[in-house]
Amino acid sequence: MSTEKVYPVPAEVASRALIDEAKYKEMYKRSIEDPEGFWAEQANEFMTWFKPFGKVMDYDLKKGHIRFFEGGKTNVSYNCLDRHLETRGDQTAIIFEGDDPNVDAKITYRELHEQVSRLGSAMRDLGIKKGERVCIYMPMIPEAAVAMLACARIGAIHSVVFGGFSPDALKDRIQDSECCAVITADFGKRGGKSVPLRANVDKALASCPSVRNVITVKHVGEEIPWVDGRDVWYHEITAAASADCPPEEMDSEDPLFILYTSGSTGKPKGVLHSTGGYNLFTAITHKYIFDYQEGDVYWCTADVGWVTGHSYIVYGPLTNGATTLMFEGVPSYPDVSRFWQVIDKHQVTIFYTAPTAIRAVMGQGNGPVEKTSRKSLRLLGTVGEPINPEAWEWYYHIVGEERCPIVDTWWQTETGGILITPLPGATALKPGSATLPFFGVNPKVLDTEGKEIDGPCEGILAFDTPWPSMMRTVYGDHDRFISTYFATYPGYYFCGDGCRRDEDGYYWITGRVDDVINVSGHRMGTAEVESALVLHEAVAEAAVVGYPHDIKGQGIYAYVTLMTGVEGTDELKKELNKLVRSEIGPIASLDVIQFAPGLPKTRSGKIMRRILRKIAASEVDALGDTSTLADPSVVSDLIDHCPVLK
Ligand code: WTA
Repeated sequence: MSTEKVYPVPAEVASRALIDEAKYKEMYKRSIEDPEGFWAEQANEFMTWFKPFGKVMDYDLKKGHIRFFEGGKTNVSYNCLDRHLETRGDQTAIIFEGDDPNVDAKITYRELHEQVSRLGSAMRDLGIKKGERVCIYMPMIPEAAVAMLACARIGAIHSVVFGGFSPDALKDRIQDSECCAVITADFGKRGGKSVPLRANVDKALASCPSVRNVITVKHVGEEIPWVDGRDVWYHEITAAASADCPPEEMDSEDPLFILYTSGSTGKPKGVLHSTGGYNLFTAITHKYIFDYQEGDVYWCTADVGWVTGHSYIVYGPLTNGATTLMFEGVPSYPDVSRFWQVIDKHQVTIFYTAPTAIRAVMGQGNGPVEKTSRKSLRLLGTVGEPINPEAWEWYYHIVGEERCPIVDTWWQTETGGILITPLPGATALKPGSATLPFFGVNPKVLDTEGKEIDGPCEGILAFDTPWPSMMRTVYGDHDRFISTYFATYPGYYFCGDGCRRDEDGYYWITGRVDDVINVSGHRMGTAEVESALVLHEAVAEAAVVGYPHDIKGQGIYAYVTLMTGVEGTDELKKELNKLVRSEIGPIASLDVIQFAPGLPKTRSGKIMRRILRKIAASEVDALGDTSTLADPSVVSDLIDHCPVLK
């Protein structure tokens, strides 16, 4: 595509940015030619080490063996808090903007340090030890960040579970990593509605014997049931605990957190990230990609339940001594101007959100944006899914008034931090392209046989060298780590995304090549949705695919075969939807259910999902070869009854 638009770096952006084009090229070259020298230097610049590290990096991707800064001792909460006290103790660390626009708060580095220390001490008083797992199931309130940092401080491994997940999904995650405690809130607030977090925890814990304590933040203040011996109030234990909580000296490779994410098959995997490499990479990417400078007010709209919240609300920004905004609400409450009102209210300079949110507010027209000022903004970012050029242009022209570069950042839960992205002062932008690799990142494009392709091409995105924040294992299942990521193309990390590389070396992510779907930036395995559907007694078989959706990016399309004699009614559709929502959570709402007497299968019984995807996407002229189907007539029936076929 040579007709694509290019937006060069404006001279004034380049001159004030931390990195311009020449510096990017020079640093990138060095980072690839001498990764050990480069990362050693950066690790000493961005972090404080209690004890210097020995070997900078050590890896063997075939074995899933990845190590950075071994022998070095540090603590992520120390890097995020203690070392800033002298120079920026009174600076705001977290700006909290509540769901209710009249509720907000500012927390300084000194206050945050005290809160984290008190909670860390209280957790130690409860007997929580280094290496034990603690589940965090919280609304987007500062206590969520405090809880993460307190775990990091005492060396407990946190596992944050998104507050939108159901009790069942929460239970699975707590059981898988045998958490010893849960930190939660009585209720969350989103769009004016209460979310019964604590009640969900109680349901989940009916079958989680590993949990000894539940720490509850009184956030909304309504009555909740109490289990003596198990339950403690956050405000009571932190008030009683010492404000002096010496940080645990962690090995660089000690685990920092587990975060569950969906794959092509089976249950969600516990992605494990470790200490030193993760801390460095989130800090350096945050600083250079968002061009973070003193005085900036930075806002990432993600939820801490996702990796974006971990890396770019909490760990990256705080390591850099930044001011980071946490927003409890949703873009449409009280009205669709909310994002821009918050930007004006707190004079946000850097704004990072998801394409799905941009498309949703774009659908409401320019009015709600244009009635706000947004003069404070100087940089915009996106993450989570490919951004369509139309949404990119709207974001650029209307929201950013052509003044703010957009960093379209490609990465994953597994990568820990951003790998492919523009740097605002260095990279000419092309709408829809994540552009170029970050320092130390060396992308390869493979053909389906796993052979590297050079130059402009299209294929599978892969990496043959690690970067510091690469995941280290699947918690409790190293074999699954190897089989999922390193077995498909031996010697490479297989990320599951396809991509195109153009004549300028720019990368265009074309989406997942596996059975993972991305619904409103939420990642889901089609297998998880199918397992939920077949729990219903009326369902014989189900096949789930993603299909293009104007706002969500992808919607969920379920083909369901019912038991003989069962009638496919609207009532049953509602029941199935309810079942999936209760098994997984509201994010897994089905957009389309098609009752199908038969599914397209090969003679060996394998469902040909390719065909189901094409029908759902209204691409019935491109079904490809259907001659290997056991019963080709199934396809015409599916097409005849497809409710969305255009
Ligand atoms: C997709 C979110 C295109 C991709 C940080 C990836 C993107 C998956 C982009 C990871 C982007 C993320 N352009 N696609 N800028 N960013 N993706 O683990 O398919 O929730 O594999 O991490 O989101 O989703 P995850």
